[in-house]
Amino acid sequence: MSYPGEFHKVLTLDDIYEGEAKLVEVNRYEILVVNINGEIKAYYARCAHALGLIEPNSFDGEEKIICPVHLWEYNARTGESINPEGSSLFPLDVKVEGNDIFVKVPSVPVSEFKVKWFGMYRQRGVINEFGVNS
Ligand code: FES
Repeated sequence: MSYPGEFHKVLTLDDIYEGEAKLVEVNRYEILVVNINGEIKAYYARCAHALGLIEPNSFDGEEKIICPVHLWEYNARTGESINPEGSSLFPLDVKVEGNDIFVKVPSVPVSEFKVKWFGMYRQRGVINEFGVNS
């Protein structure tokens, strides 16, 4: 997914073991960083259902991220929802340079980002009665 933003160093590889997830915050963006067998992924840490916060222990250590609020399940490698299907976490670009992990943080204010990203889901009917919180 292409989006305007800037890379920020968020962690080092020593900070996050295989099978582990960490929650970091940059410019008010909550970011879930996941280490899946050595592959680093990052997502905006708000659930596409109703913006529940995806905590580090939401990652099962292998393949799923499960929102603690209503238990929607996401593929940890892609962010796409498994149960129910048809939705997605917002994947953030990651680069690893040496021991440092960088995540591309969107340049728009997070309140605007929520309306754009989750508003899109709302139109598609994925977010319904809960609306968009800022
Ligand atoms: S907010 Fe995540 S499943 Fe409802």
